[in-house]
Amino acid sequence: MGKYRIMELSKIAKNFIECEEKYGAHNYHPLEVVLAKGKGPYVWDVDGKKYFDFLSAYSAVNQGHCHPKIVKALKDQADKLCLTSRAFYNDCLGPYEKYIHEFFGYDKVLPMNSGAEAVETALKLARRWGYVRKGIAENKALIICCEGNFHGRTITIVSLSTDPDSYDKYGPFTPGLIKIPYNDTKALASVLEKHGAEVAAFLVEPIQGEAGVFVPDEGYLKKCFDLCKKHNVLFMADEVQTGIARTGKMLCSDHEGIRPDVVILGKAISGGVLPVSAVLADDDIMLTIKPGEHGSTFGGFPLACRVAVAALEVVKEEKLVERAEYLGKIFREEMGKYKSPFIKQIRGKGLLNAIVVQPHNGKEAWDVCEKMAEMGVLAKPTHKHIIRFAPPLVISEEELREAIKIIISAMDSLA
Ligand SMILES: Cc1ncc(COP(=O)(O)O)c(C=O)c1O
Repeated sequence: MGKYRIMELSKIAKNFIECEEKYGAHNYHPLEVVLAKGKGPYVWDVDGKKYFDFLSAYSAVNQGHCHPKIVKALKDQADKLCLTSRAFYNDCLGPYEKYIHEFFGYDKVLPMNSGAEAVETALKLARRWGYVRKGIAENKALIICCEGNFHGRTITIVSLSTDPDSYDKYGPFTPGLIKIPYNDTKALASVLEKHGAEVAAFLVEPIQGEAGVFVPDEGYLKKCFDLCKKHNVLFMADEVQTGIARTGKMLCSDHEGIRPDVVILGKAISGGVLPVSAVLADDDIMLTIKPGEHGSTFGGFPLACRVAVAALEVVKEEKLVERAEYLGKIFREEMGKYKSPFIKQIRGKGLLNAIVVQPHNGKEAWDVCEKMAEMGVLAKPTHKHIIRFAPPLVISEEELREAIKIIISAMDSLA
């Protein structure tokens, strides 16, 4: 059991936790809450206690838990056809691809499953484009990424990482990667001046989510985009966490009016119902990968296609972009009015926000999260001192205000 425990656990909850600890790999450190049900912005534990979910499965559940329209699409399609081999055509993939084309305005989509797979796909695409279009000498292509990034967990992706928890003792690492400070256009300019001819792509999160909702300076993305254009380098936006309405625009890149050459999506593209991810690009880039040169058994499977269309329809129908923008302002304003010794900084965009916690009274971010959980709001520290607040975008204003009161009471009770 976690050493920080402050809530009493029921026997039934303890059993589930012990079962995971005994039979599962120990690659996560969860808060000791055992969930059994979800609806909209709420989840319930095995003892029937209700919570606001302020993590939303790391922004996968933007449309809310078990959204009826998405679940219906899943059930309807599950009765007909779940998976076909990509050796054949099916009646879901084409319509899904057309829908994505019309929704995001890119010529093509390459469907995958997890966010990491989509990032990996984008890296392959960038190298391929670098060789066949830009004319980089074989095996010399470089990719630039940013310190503090989080793009997933594969070997190549952890090769990009500057977080020892992600990469330590997983080497040897993938070569051809250059790491520069985030939010530093000068660093990008100087690397491009030096190596531009061999650089295929610049990979960036428009806001660094896992790093603790680190929002770069206004104009940063646009400047980076322009630098990439100057050096004929692909600008690749990892929008796995920031995309699909989370930050108050459909894509976070929209805040700066840029159209990335490659967009990487995951998480909320299925409303958290299935693992679905996607890479978007125009023909000149995407068609450099030919039949048989990349793929995945489940990439673009019928069930995923139907679910993703329903999930994106919900985003439009329920105006989740506008809601995230409006509610995010309320969150930052209300939390900003409250003075607590725990709060060092509040930052974010739309409904992707974080509080940087200052330890106080021997208590730190983890204790605040445990207290909030006890009082009915679930969130978790990302890194030691930062708590991310990212409720489902379907949360109502009244519910959000109620959750804010709980967050404030939890901090007050520990101060
Ligand atoms: C920006 C970003 N990229 C990629 C990933 C990896 O996605 P997945 O966990 O689905 O592999 C994440 C996950 O948190 C992410 O936040």
